[in-house]
Amino acid sequence: MRFAGRVAIITGAGRGIGHAIAVRLASEGARVACVSRTEANAKKTADEINALRADAAKAYAVDVADHAAVQKIGAQILQDFGKIDILINNAGMTRDALAMRMSLEDWDSVINTNLRGAFSFTQAILRAMIKQRSGRIINISSVSGIMGNAGQTNYAASKAGLIGFTKSLARELASRNITVNAIAPGFITTDMTAGLSDEVKKALHAKIPLGKTGTPEDVANAAAFLASADAGYITGQTLCVDGGIVM
Ligand SMILES: NC(=O)c1ccc[n+]([C@@H]2O[C@H](COP(=O)([O-])OP(=O)(O)OC[C@H]3O[C@@H](n4cnc5c(N)ncnc54)[C@H](O)[C@@H]3O)[C@@H](O)[C@H]2O)c1
Repeated sequence: MRFAGRVAIITGAGRGIGHAIAVRLASEGARVACVSRTEANAKKTADEINALRADAAKAYAVDVADHAAVQKIGAQILQDFGKIDILINNAGMTRDALAMRMSLEDWDSVINTNLRGAFSFTQAILRAMIKQRSGRIINISSVSGIMGNAGQTNYAASKAGLIGFTKSLARELASRNITVNAIAPGFITTDMTAGLSDEVKKALHAKIPLGKTGTPEDVANAAAFLASADAGYITGQTLCVDGGIVM
């Protein structure tokens, strides 16, 4: 129970990687704020956690791209839980297209959700975390942000941006005993990758040295480590959870 007494916020907790991280942190004692775009999805994860440990989770619905709404939800979570120890900026989306054909709307929505959303949620809780003089912020980036990926200029730019955001924030907050790290997942089996064609999946598979796709739990393992006391001397880093794609 290494997170007993700790409070964690996980964005995009309704399914996939965010769901796995929320369940993992709660299973090790954390109380968790499950944030999703829809009330139903957030509640599904919170109900699942509360069935294992009563009152361990609460559900919140917000679009992370709505800066004002995120500030309100952040304040609500702080009021409900009384503190914040861990923030996992996981909410993310793709709108793939070749740059030549990409609409400005698809560019903006991906950047505003994946990159600005992380900034907005961080700003919503930062004052409280700084006052507390301890905390962990973990941003879910992607190997696309490190290597690039044809058809994903918007997504890769948002994920590369998150790495720069992570490093700068780590430098700003180190003296306050707050660590900031990123995780770059590779090809993880979730709804986000379910829609890829068999051909694309096969091509991606061929690039993974470990020869298999990852699971949301593989990413949750890394998040739990970076959120734990064991990672207290690690900040500003990007940990690839990708079966060896980036090395
Ligand atoms: N699956 C992969 O292979 C993979 C690889 C690298 C990085 N990632 C990243 O991991 C994170 C989780 O991805 P996943 O595979 O679990 O995807 P997913 O589509 O299954 O889940 C994404 C979650 O984010 C939420 N979300 C999306 N836009 C939102 C918004 N505007 N406001 C609030 N919530 C919003 C969704 O509702 C959903 O719960 C994302 O940031 C994604 O970019 C995934």
